[in-house]
Amino acid sequence: MKKILVTGGLGFIGSHTVVELQNEGYEVVIIDNLSNTTISVLDSIVSITGITPTFANIDLRNQKAVGDFFDNHTIDGVIHFAAFKAVGESVGSPLSYYQNNLNTLIYLLQELTVRKIDNFIFSSSCTVYGQADSLPITEKEPVKPAESPYGYSKQAGEIILRDSCKASELNAISLRYFNPIGAHPSIKIGELPLGVPQNLIPYITQTAAGLRGELSVFGDDYPTKDGTAVRDYIHVVDLAKAHISALARLMHKENKSNYEFFNVGSGTGSSVLEVIKAFEKASGKPLRYKIVGRREGDVTAAYADTTLANKELKWKTTLSLDDALASAWKWQLAQEK
Ligand code: UD1
Repeated sequence: MKKILVTGGLGFIGSHTVVELQNEGYEVVIIDNLSNTTISVLDSIVSITGITPTFANIDLRNQKAVGDFFDNHTIDGVIHFAAFKAVGESVGSPLSYYQNNLNTLIYLLQELTVRKIDNFIFSSSCTVYGQADSLPITEKEPVKPAESPYGYSKQAGEIILRDSCKASELNAISLRYFNPIGAHPSIKIGELPLGVPQNLIPYITQTAAGLRGELSVFGDDYPTKDGTAVRDYIHVVDLAKAHISALARLMHKENKSNYEFFNVGSGTGSSVLEVIKAFEKASGKPLRYKIVGRREGDVTAAYADTTLANKELKWKTTLSLDDALASAWKWQLAQEK
């Protein structure tokens, strides 16, 4: 049985990926410092799969603790989710973002290269493209100046990985996520935003649940079909499965070079108003919203060309925006109970 380390394995995307790894017969070891999640997610994972993953509460900024961990575990591959991800917060705390998102990556890669563990998957983001010149976005699109330290931490992470692969036996894949949403069909794991949500879907579900007064739609004067910004929303379970495909590619040595990157999205662009309509249909509830000014740093439109991931990873999405919104709503209702 191959043993996979999942850092940030109790987070939103991490927990869904742990479930899919266990379903595929991998043994999972989770490292998480619980900075943006709770330990109860571990029990939820067990209640879905019936398998208890090994769990280590380690802060990856502690280089000695990282070394000690690898002294005690024989690992075949790493999926690295652990990172800070709030764009606005990163503008106010750039050093903590760079320290957390880059030091942790460097410490892991140092251990991997010394110990000859050569399979690594990195959580990157479509934010690296900024406002792309052409849509849908292919991997040939250039990386643009980032809008925030968070964005730069993802760009720098990719560069660190690319250069480490060049200089060693390491094989790595960066997955550039578009907008992950939704919850596991069991409704036992999902997104746990702390405080006021910054992202669209949790804000919508909390508004529909009466926890927020109304949704502010950031801008209706974009050059898009209805004036609101367009994004590529992907069901988190489809996204989790992309990691399984990428891992299989590395494990079976099917990768074409030792550093590769792929877009992981649904391939469909949806405007904010389209998402609201789809949510109202999925939940059967009208949503209170108002149009306000644009949010600083937002791009007009971003959606993926997934041809490369479909072909090379032998992966495609199977769940729709409606599926994702219905699961997000059920998850919201389950939180209240
Ligand atoms: C954001 C980040 C992105 C990051 C991702 C992580 C920015 C600029 N980008 O993506 O780098 O990888 O989160 O999840 O922050 N919207 C509203 N009202 C709201 C919230 C959002 O109208 O209350 C709109 C936004 O303007 C945007 C769309 O909904 O057009 C999606 O927003 P969001 O969910 O925050 O994701 P992104 O901004 O695309």
